[in-house]
Amino acid sequence: MKSHIESLLEQTIESFKQQGIVPADFQARIQVDRTKDKSHGDLATNLAMMLTKVAKKNPRELAQLIIDTLPASSYVAKVEIAGPGFINFFIDDNALANQLQQALTSDHLGVALPTKQTIVVDYSSPNLAKEMHVGHLRSTIIGDSVVRALEYLGHKVIRQNHVGDWGTQFGMLLALMEELRAANGEQAKMELSDLESFYRAAKVRFDESTEFATRARQLVVALQSGDEYCNKLWREFNDISLSHCHDVYKRLGVSLTRADVHGESAYNADLAQVVKDLDAQGLLSESNGAKVVFQEAFRNKEGEPLPVIIQKADGGYLYATSDLAAMRYRSNVLKADRAMYFVDLRQALHFQQVFSLAKLAKFVRPEMSLEHTGFGTMNGEDGRPFKTRSGGVVKLVDLLDEADVRALELVRSKNPDMDEATLTEIARVVGISSVKYADLSKNRTSDYIFSFEQMLSFEGNTAPYLLYAYTRVAGIFKRATDIDLSQAKIVLEHEKEKDLGTKLAQFGEVLTRMTDKGLPHVLCGYLYELASEFSSFYEACPVLAAETEAQKQSRLLLAQLTAKTLKTGLSLLGIETLERM
Ligand code: ARG
Repeated sequence: MKSHIESLLEQTIESFKQQGIVPADFQARIQVDRTKDKSHGDLATNLAMMLTKVAKKNPRELAQLIIDTLPASSYVAKVEIAGPGFINFFIDDNALANQLQQALTSDHLGVALPTKQTIVVDYSSPNLAKEMHVGHLRSTIIGDSVVRALEYLGHKVIRQNHVGDWGTQFGMLLALMEELRAANGEQAKMELSDLESFYRAAKVRFDESTEFATRARQLVVALQSGDEYCNKLWREFNDISLSHCHDVYKRLGVSLTRADVHGESAYNADLAQVVKDLDAQGLLSESNGAKVVFQEAFRNKEGEPLPVIIQKADGGYLYATSDLAAMRYRSNVLKADRAMYFVDLRQALHFQQVFSLAKLAKFVRPEMSLEHTGFGTMNGEDGRPFKTRSGGVVKLVDLLDEADVRALELVRSKNPDMDEATLTEIARVVGISSVKYADLSKNRTSDYIFSFEQMLSFEGNTAPYLLYAYTRVAGIFKRATDIDLSQAKIVLEHEKEKDLGTKLAQFGEVLTRMTDKGLPHVLCGYLYELASEFSSFYEACPVLAAETEAQKQSRLLLAQLTAKTLKTGLSLLGIETLERM
């Protein structure tokens, strides 16, 4: 409904432009909000106030002019001017009911699709030298949920798993692979089943043996100059490391495939060209033998210029160099209108610097939007970054194992008589969704405390609450299998029916807000409110025991749309629903 009012106002502005009331190139920022107090209608806009300057009229006079020009709409029952020049819209309940009725039969629950864009989403992107740990959880699941929502809205989304598969640490890993292989033959493959210890073992060898360290350095040079033997070892290593990642993705229900992997190494061949192009534009400076770029806007606390380092004195390239090449690829080859980077906020400065440099050097088209959609840290219950008891990094696999165990305990306690196989399957869904939902439901920009107890609670904005709410709505239909709804019509009479209907009608706006800024918590909050709204409706409005057949059918349709919206919303968060739990 909100987007409907917005479009009416857009048309009004267009006609103002034709009449010369506002300049033809005027860009109006139309804002429509829900009112807190229903005596002021359902929706309101401050558009008249926004136009006073350009139209050189007083706001109340403009408000009247807007109302007179506004195209007629069957959804709007009444329009009023309030206070200094607000315009209040009263929505017609019949029109709302019709919109809901249409949502039930349309492909996208009636959501209005925006102009299609090509959007690159850079997410997960772990470093392959080590196993995925909890630090990779946020990027992986937040990114995946935004990707799903963007696709639902009809955009062309290109997933980019910008894995760290290049750099000096690979020398030491390859040197160890080589050593173990000489000693044990093909057996050495097994050693890589635990990447974490493999990395540690390589580090130990590197520190204790100068011979080993020299070999490691040789291997890096050979790898970078395209040596076939080294590349083969390196591919084998990455292949094993990537299959660890994909095991985790599969378990988490994350949509990334091998085809989405486009890591740092993919840009290797372009790095020398990046340097040349920056040089040709006169952007490069020398600093202690390294090639760097200084940009006016970036200075440290002392006011000294902060460089982006492009190439080290020894010729090596950096993280920033491959990001520049990646942006160029995303703009010119993938033709992205927009690129979103789901990366830890601690990398904020890096992204500000490389984004601004990419625009300056014209590596990306000027209209392409570059967005660092960063996130805060996942902390333990002590408020410090999440660690194992002994202070080590927590492997993602171990975290998910624990979620499984705890969820099984919980589900068993609720269903003491359920058979083991069903219990295990329900617990798998509850465990994974709890971990995901706890993360997605927090505003990504803040740090949050990871707590199994909280995420597995049936109270509050949690996965168990929502999954359970869904089973309750879906349960109504199990008891109503013989009711024919083919002629049923939604009619909104009771206050709680109207509230639920209004909430249901907001799904589209919520998806727009979620995808505009890459904020899954907006969708979580909405689903939670929708579930609560449904509870109050269900308490106040008997469904199967309704007073008339027509009322029963209308309420069943409302329940059906609620179930569909919850299921779709959860699936856009990457969360499976259950029929019982
Ligand atoms: N591999 C990096 C890390 O683990 C994240 C890469 C993010 N993407 C990018 N284009 N820089 O910190």
